[in-house]
Amino acid sequence: MGRAFVYVILGGGVAAGYAALEFTRRGVSDGELCIISEEPVAPYERPALSKGFLLPEAPARLPSFHTCVGANDEKLTPKWYKDHGIELVLGTRVKSVDVRRKTLLSSTGETISYKFLIIATGARALKLEEFGVEGSDAENVCYLRDLADANRLATVIQSSSNGNAVVIGGGYIGMECAASLVINKINVTMVFPEAHCMARLFTPKIATLYEDYYRTKGVKFIKGTVLTSFEFDSNGKVTAVNLKDGNQLPADLVVVGIGIRPNTSLFEGQLTIEKGGIKVNSKMQSSDSSVYAIGDVATFPVKLFGEMRRLEHVDSARKSARHAVSSIMDPVKTGEFDYLPFFYSRVFAFSWQFYGDPTGEVVHFGDYEDGKSFGAYWVKKGHLVGSFLEGGTKEEYEIISKATKLKPAVTIDLEELEKEGLKFAETV
Ligand code: FDA
Ligand code: NAD
Repeated sequence: MGRAFVYVILGGGVAAGYAALEFTRRGVSDGELCIISEEPVAPYERPALSKGFLLPEAPARLPSFHTCVGANDEKLTPKWYKDHGIELVLGTRVKSVDVRRKTLLSSTGETISYKFLIIATGARALKLEEFGVEGSDAENVCYLRDLADANRLATVIQSSSNGNAVVIGGGYIGMECAASLVINKINVTMVFPEAHCMARLFTPKIATLYEDYYRTKGVKFIKGTVLTSFEFDSNGKVTAVNLKDGNQLPADLVVVGIGIRPNTSLFEGQLTIEKGGIKVNSKMQSSDSSVYAIGDVATFPVKLFGEMRRLEHVDSARKSARHAVSSIMDPVKTGEFDYLPFFYSRVFAFSWQFYGDPTGEVVHFGDYEDGKSFGAYWVKKGHLVGSFLEGGTKEEYEIISKATKLKPAVTIDLEELEKEGLKFAETV
């Protein structure tokens, strides 16, 4: 027995929510669209989980952050899906997909068939076990990818007040969770293998500024090393973390953010995989013309840089979702996906945005002394390819975004560019 839909979205995260809204705007009929998600709740804005969700006072809770509130758009509650005739199959894992037959098999044993499939399975958090460290299923070791993880982390935070946390990883999860833990009055030590935090994006100068601020909040940094094992009490709770450099850190709570792997396994051997994601063209269409991929799981051509990229950020999930739906429902009028990569983060009172590609030579500008408003440009082969700004206004972020999209030639020398700072982007 099974059901048949015209459109099926596999996965119910950020990209799925934005795709659903786009489908309704383009006129999907009752019963044509189905979303299947392993999570028990309707699509929500995942970024809230490391920020508002972890606040000690008035934390964000669903339904307040269902998609698409993050883009100041409609909030899609379960009732919204019902009212729009969209079948929302929640708490249901898809076990296998037969691309040739255009069918999915769910964990409940149901076969669902489609005319068009959109893969929006996102990614999973990498586990310490994959790096040879055992014991990360202990109750006070927390990963953070979905709502269940966030609930668990919030509970462990509550029982660790004034205690010690070890944060493993100096990327986005590490930095955002460390800030949230400090706000919850927990002592934080961050451990990561690189020389500075956010090594994939920040320059040493940018990283130093944030790290110094974190230190004023009591955060300790142990860099250039990794953990090797945990110490446990008789109940199996972690009590300490052993590091490769020989240090041992007491821990009431451990947060692990050591990167992700896209959820592609259902499609290996059926669709082309590139750079760890499902390879799609500029219409977000995979190597099978009935199957599209969006969000963290998709490797797509970034026209601006003439390269295939897989991005792990909410803006690309939202925009690739809209583009895929547009490609499916209006193939003639839909052009190529012409995306400018955009990343952002908010920690404490800081808020930064980055546009483009952090490659080439770096020029820092602005006031790194008071640390309120500063930035950097990346210049490659004589062109501006990346822009970072902390503490900008809405207009200033628009200016750097527009300028970076144009990839303008930098005809002045780099010292001059440093002096010009934001003025350079303004005059592009
Ligand atoms: P997403 O992970 O959102 O959704 C995938 C969905 O597919 C999940 O619901 C999953 O359960 C489901 N699924 C997977 N396999 C399945 C199967 N076999 N059967 C059924 N369902 C299945 N980005 C940013 O730009 N700014 C930010 O501030 C943040 N902050 C942030 C905080 C935290 C805690 C995380 C974890 C991530 C961020 N991000 C972010 C990244 C951003 O959230 C991410 O890029 C998007 O969620 C990607 O959207 P997707 O829809 O691709 O995957
Ligand atoms: P990440 O890739 O940002 O950082 C991974 C970090 O893991 C690295 O910086 C490194 O310090 C560390 N690391 C790697 N191997 C390690 C090891 N063996 N031991 C200790 N540390 C190790 O990934 P993340 O921070 O885990 O974030 C997960 C996903 O969530 C990413 O896709 C990220 O883009 C997304 N996210 C984004 C935001 C945002 O955009 N503001 C916020 C939160 C999460």
